[in-house]
Amino acid sequence: MRTNRLTLSLVLTVALVIAGTGLYWLFSSMAIFPSPRGIETSRSADTMLQASQVVFAPPRPEDAPEDIREGVMLGYHILMDTQTYAKQYVGNKLNCRNCHFNAGRERNTLSLVGVAVTYPKYRERRKYVTDLVTRTQGCFERSMNGKALPPEDKHMQALMAYYHWISKGLPIYADIPWLGLKKLKSGHKPDPAAGKQVFAQVCTRCHGDGGLGTAIAPPLWGPESFNDGAGMHKMKNFSAFTHHFMPKNNPTLSVDQALDVSAYATSQPRPHFQAGK
Ligand code: HEC
Ligand code: HEC
Repeated sequence: MRTNRLTLSLVLTVALVIAGTGLYWLFSSMAIFPSPRGIETSRSADTMLQASQVVFAPPRPEDAPEDIREGVMLGYHILMDTQTYAKQYVGNKLNCRNCHFNAGRERNTLSLVGVAVTYPKYRERRKYVTDLVTRTQGCFERSMNGKALPPEDKHMQALMAYYHWISKGLPIYADIPWLGLKKLKSGHKPDPAAGKQVFAQVCTRCHGDGGLGTAIAPPLWGPESFNDGAGMHKMKNFSAFTHHFMPKNNPTLSVDQALDVSAYATSQPRPHFQAGK
């Protein structure tokens, strides 16, 4: 009898402690118990909370809820096979996935996982905040040497649905470490002549002798490549992309080799960007 009562009160105490801790946690996360240092502390708590939520785990496009699935899937197909799914807006032989591998669903590429939580964002090109529609129009006009899709166009809406779906669970305006290209740091002066040799030794076997592309890899310059207004045309982007991701699945170039080959590639002829074509 006695032992029973003792067990009961023990169980009750434990339950109370658990409930109390839970309530304290709940209230403190609701900022009902403000800390003496006020805003500063709650901001760093917020950052910590966000950091623990910044996990690379994009859901599969096929798993999107039924009512948005058609749009998400179309967005995915446009990125993978732009030549088929958004043909009328493309002016070269590239597909988005040539730079955003696997429709941007990877970490080791120009990833698109999380773009939906980092826009609208400030862009130097426009000197203003820019949303994802405008950003995407830029890639069509420059990287794809084509035409801007109207915002209300079904293809554009589908891309937005896709970006949002693969960004699921990431906090708005969190710092997403895998987005963008890590620029190369080097005092080396890029040498296009040395780059031509790197190109011949390393790149031609996939991108072709003249850099115009083959059945296995897209053109790096020439009439069917991105135009001179594209992000990839900038040395800092081309070199970072090449150093981190080329040859595909087996990047081997040193920083200096990547800079040299980029100086060579970006000096080759390509279409000229014309605004509002
Ligand atoms: C093993 C084959 C292979 C080699 C070698 C290779 N690439 Fe690529 N590269 C690819 C493929 C494939 C893609 C497109 C990726 C995709 O669609 O998934 C690509 C895409 C690119 C792109 C972006 C798309 C474009 O057409 O501009 C650049 C830039 C690039 N490669 C540069 C280089 C450079 C520079 C070298 C030599 C240092 C190189 N690559 C070597 C296979 C290769
Ligand atoms: C030739 C390579 C290339 C192709 C092809 C390409 N992009 Fe991009 N894309 C880039 C580069 C480089 C950047 C980022 C650098 C910059 O600021 O310009 C970028 C950035 C983006 C961003 C913003 C990402 C961020 O982190 O802010 C989106 C969205 C995007 N591209 C969508 C697309 C879509 C959609 C297509 C196809 C219609 C496409 N891209 C085709 C190279 C490419």
